[in-house]
Formats: sequence, C-alpha cells, structure tokens
Amino acid sequence: MGGLLARRSGSERRTVGYNAASPFCVAIMSSLPQPSAEALEQSHRLTALLQSEILAAGGWIPFSRFMELALYAPGLGYYSGGARKFGPAGDFITAPELTPLFGQALASQVEQVMKASAMQMIEVGAGTGLLAADLLLELERRGSLPLRYGILELSAELRERQFDTLAQRAPHLAARVEWLHALPESFSGAVVANEVLDVMPVHLLVSTADGLLERGVVLAERIKGEGEVLCWGDSPAQGAVLEAALALDLPVPEEGEYLTEINLAGQAWMASWADRLERGAMLLIDYGYPRAEYYLPSRSSGTLLCYYRHQAHADPFLWPGLNDITEFVDFTSMAEAAFDAGLEVLGYTSQAQFLFNCGILDCLARRGPEGSADYVRAARAVQRLTTPQEMGELFKVLAVGRGIETALIGFARGDRLHTL
Ligand SMILES: C[S@@+](CC[C@H](N)C(=O)[O-])C[C@H]1O[C@@H](n2cnc3c(N)ncnc32)[C@H](O)[C@@H]1O
Repeated sequence: MGGLLARRSGSERRTVGYNAASPFCVAIMSSLPQPSAEALEQSHRLTALLQSEILAAGGWIPFSRFMELALYAPGLGYYSGGARKFGPAGDFITAPELTPLFGQALASQVEQVMKASAMQMIEVGAGTGLLAADLLLELERRGSLPLRYGILELSAELRERQFDTLAQRAPHLAARVEWLHALPESFSGAVVANEVLDVMPVHLLVSTADGLLERGVVLAERIKGEGEVLCWGDSPAQGAVLEAALALDLPVPEEGEYLTEINLAGQAWMASWADRLERGAMLLIDYGYPRAEYYLPSRSSGTLLCYYRHQAHADPFLWPGLNDITEFVDFTSMAEAAFDAGLEVLGYTSQAQFLFNCGILDCLARRGPEGSADYVRAARAVQRLTTPQEMGELFKVLAVGRGIETALIGFARGDRLHTL
C-alpha cells in the first residue's frame, strides 16, 4: 500500500482534454437548442465567477468545487438560478413529475416507517414540490398524515416553486409543511430523498499506470489572444480523496486511463443524518449500482452526465449553470457511510421491486376504469417506472435507519442487500 501511495502521488499537474471551444464541444453546441440571451448572460456571469475562483485557488480547483458552483452558486447555479429544469419544457423528468402513482406507492412505505417511529417526515431536495403534494394527499387518504412535513431544499428558487405547488394542489395541507434551512439537530420519522444523491458534487479520479490523479478544472488559452477558457486539469490525488480512492482499489489500465467519481459529499451527508436520526428510516431513491458494479474495469469513462433539454451530453463546461450535472450513486458507499456512523441498513432493491412491494399496481387499479384515457396514461407511466429497460432496474432504493423493529414492506420481496 505504501509503495502504491508513493508511486501514485508523484505525478505533476497536467492540462488535459477538450475545453469549451474545442471541435467536440462545438459539435455538441450545434446539436442542442440554443439558450436565450438572458440565460447565456447568466452562464457568462457564472463562468466569470468560476474563473476568479480558479485563479484565487492557484490555477486549479477540484471538479467537486466546479460542480458545486455550477449547480448551486446563489442566483447563478443550475438549481439556484432561474432555469426551467423539470418537466417536458425543462431538461429532465423525474418519477414524481411522471405520475402521482410514484408518490402514492411510496406513501405506504412512509406510513409504515412513521407508525414505527414518529408521525413526521422530511423530504430532501423536493424539486417542484409535486412529490410532497402527492405524498401528503395519499397519506391523508390513508388517515396517516404527518404532523409536520419538513422540506430541506438548497435552492431558494425551488423553495418558492414548492410553496406554489402545495398551495395549488393541497392547499388544506400546506400548513403542515415547513422549510428547513439545515439538517435538524435530532429527528424521528421518515426521510425521503428522490434523485438527490446523484446531484451532490463529486471528485473525479483518474487511475493510470503512472499514478492516481484527481481531475479538476483549470484555465487555458486555446487560441492565443482569445482569452482563457475552462479546461480539464489533472493533479496528483491527495489527502482524503487519495485515501478514499486507494480504498476503492480502482482498476489500473495498462494504457490510457480509468476515469471515475467518488461522492465524498454524499458519504458525509449520510453520516450527518446518522448523528441526527433518533428513530426512523431514510429512503434514498436514485440511479446507481453497488460498488462491485460501479467500479467495473469496463466502465472506464465514469458515469458523469449532463442534461440540457432532455439531451444527455458529457461536457460540463458547456454553458455552466444551464445544464444539470449528475453521476450514478455508489450505493455501497452510502450504505457503508450510514452503517459506520451507527445506522442499520434496512433494505436495498430495484425501484421496480420496491414500487411493486409498495402496491403501485393497486394504486393504478384505483385509477380505473381500465381502458379510460386516464388509466392508459397512468399505466404507461407505471411501465416507465418499472420496466427494466427504463427506470425499473437502473434506479434503486436504499433504506437505512434506527430503531425500526418491523421489516420494511418495500423490501418484502426481492431485497438485494447481499449485493452491497
Ligand atoms: C434532480 S432534483 C430532484 C427533485 C425531486 N426530488 C424530484 O424527484 O423531482 C434534485 C433536488 O435536490 C436538491 N438538492 C441537492 N442537494 C441537496 C442537499 N444537499 N440538500 C437539499 N437539497 C438538495 C436540488 O436543489 C433539487 O431540488
């Protein structure tokens, strides 16, 4: 281990890859719908902020810092600025945006956790607020309303949208909802986070025969006199990143590089919850794999993806602040972080299996009569959520918690804890 450490931390910093004016990037730009002048202006302001941050840091910032600013810089980042984001007119569609049946099925798991702990819940990263409305309405129908529904949301713009959605869809329940500005000191009840871990800023790791590097962001002049643009830059991996990367025992290619990610922010977040969750469970829904599948030698370009108007691309430097940037979740790391900090790992399965266990087909049956336009629309959405080729297999559900004595219904059949 010591030899590997020495060998791998000896490399020089180097500038690599394409930048925002490369032919590859120009090809992506021309195939995507063009942003408005106002959106471009916001992106230029964010780029200027990123440039000054890189200069202040001595010429290199880790990708995790770039991603943090690109998504969450106040007023400018993708989630904290004015971009449309969700739905057909935005950049991507999430399960609650697809159908209320997702929230209705999830409600049965939330109800069980609340009854086994305390009648309150927190939703982290509530997006447009649709899931909050669906959960509250279904819990009301079941006679199991939470006394308080906390929403923990980083984006001020989305907090406003969530408020409006709740006022429109569940006005009589809106008074139960409160927006939290930090994790609570202590909490009992159910915690839900749908597609939140995948937008936490990650560090990029580059494993080569010569050493282990961290890929970050630098400024480089592509054409003399035309100013500097954002560009990839590798630096020797150091400190906590190096330590965590070595523990992963990443594939080392004989030639070229093996690029991947590590979500240290997600791991720290899980540990913070472990310090606060007195009794209850967290339900984490996202796309991802167990570690053994995540760091496969064949997955040599990592899982980082950007979304702009429903088109996935691989260039986070394209219009910073106007694209979503996401990565797949290494569920083993999340489960380990929770477990090491004192939580129990209660279940892990595919989204399809979880939703079937939670009775999504019964929720669909309530939409009858079969064959009506509404039923057919709902059935199509259920199909999208559950078929292996769409969201059913790629998305997983992880439950961690404390003091829950009964087995969780969402994992009653097809639990895959053994794969973590
Ligand atoms: C991809 S969206 C998913 C939104 C929603 N859960 C859904 O399924 O439609 C990610 C959401 O998580 C929020 N978010 C990201 N990291 C967060 C954090 N550490 N704490 C609270 N919210 C966070 C974002 O602002 C955004 O609302």
